[in-house]
Amino acid sequence: MKKILLLGALLALAGTAPAQKRTSFQPGAVWPDNHGTHLNAHGAGILYDKGRYYLFGEHKIAGPKGNSAQVGVHCYSSTDLYNWQDEGIALAVAAEGSGSEIEKGAIIERPKVVFNPKTGQYVMWFHLELKGKGYNAARTAVAVSKKPTGPFTYVRSYRPGAGQWPTGFQEAWKQPAPNEASLKWWTPEWRTAVAQGLFIRRDLQPGQMARDMTVFVDDNGKAYHIHSSEDNLTLHVAELTDDYQGFTGRWNTIAPAGHNEAPAICKRQGKYYLITSGCTGWAPNAARSFVASSIWGPWRQLENPAIGPDADSTYHSQSTYILPVAGKKDAFIFMADRWTPKNPIDGGYIWLPLSFEGDQPRLQWADRWDLSVFDQPRRKTVPTP
Ligand code: DGJ
Repeated sequence: MKKILLLGALLALAGTAPAQKRTSFQPGAVWPDNHGTHLNAHGAGILYDKGRYYLFGEHKIAGPKGNSAQVGVHCYSSTDLYNWQDEGIALAVAAEGSGSEIEKGAIIERPKVVFNPKTGQYVMWFHLELKGKGYNAARTAVAVSKKPTGPFTYVRSYRPGAGQWPTGFQEAWKQPAPNEASLKWWTPEWRTAVAQGLFIRRDLQPGQMARDMTVFVDDNGKAYHIHSSEDNLTLHVAELTDDYQGFTGRWNTIAPAGHNEAPAICKRQGKYYLITSGCTGWAPNAARSFVASSIWGPWRQLENPAIGPDADSTYHSQSTYILPVAGKKDAFIFMADRWTPKNPIDGGYIWLPLSFEGDQPRLQWADRWDLSVFDQPRRKTVPTP
């Protein structure tokens, strides 16, 4: 028996064994593409287009250098979400030394792609950090393509909201309050000062910081960019222009001083749900959840959506996207990353069904599950054997 298993493994390694068709998700396990290679799409998002899903994520390489962009954004496609075909690099980094904002060694994270019916173009947004500047640039960037699989052409980067106050920002808050700079961090007074523009005023002219981000297209075709801003203290939601390639200038804050990263959003029965993480670098932490009746807020913070063992680390992962399953009502997949910063290419993927208890989004661990959970009145998953 052992010999047969060994032979099978050797054949698979040599690429001669027929790829086994997958019929379930196995969160955290190695996830081979059609070549038998572990998917290389970290901080991913999914586009559903003409009956096919397209997965876009950060292509990582082995070793700590792999935490910066050495290759670009990788694309895979699938019709069933279990089996992914390698579509190659959709957005390639520019040559080292070219001076391009996306040159090899820059940081390109959390790519999200949407289709714009008005222009017929696929629009990719991603978090961009300029080469050699750590995470200080805090920019978001856009690239476009005529085809979902690319090649995407780089357009430009932004600091959103330059020269624009958020909606509902009071006239009195446009000037610093006395002594606000000396307030002790995390005190109630400091939180109020943050909500009243402590960091917004600082970044008004250059534009607001944009790190972890996602993009959401509403039912009416309006698109929004949601990003961690103000040194990751406050999330911002900013409206995109009709071509989805720029900002209209209308924006607002979410959870001021809440210290949220990794925003992932979905809309269900007319309400908006946001799942985020705290800010602990590559290390996982407990997820947070929020609900709102309008994307502009007010957003109400709910509980950690995860329950059961390892809920306090979101099952050792960090949110990246919430995928509405095509053709199934109120069916959403929570997608998250298990980062491995010492060898980023090994990073794992945690996909779990997202359910709701009233307004409260819920996540529960499953070793293995499939899309039939969305057809059952009570969502059954395969428990740990
Ligand atoms: C956490 C973010 O969510 C990731 O996308 C990445 O930026 C790491 N921080 C870097 O430490």
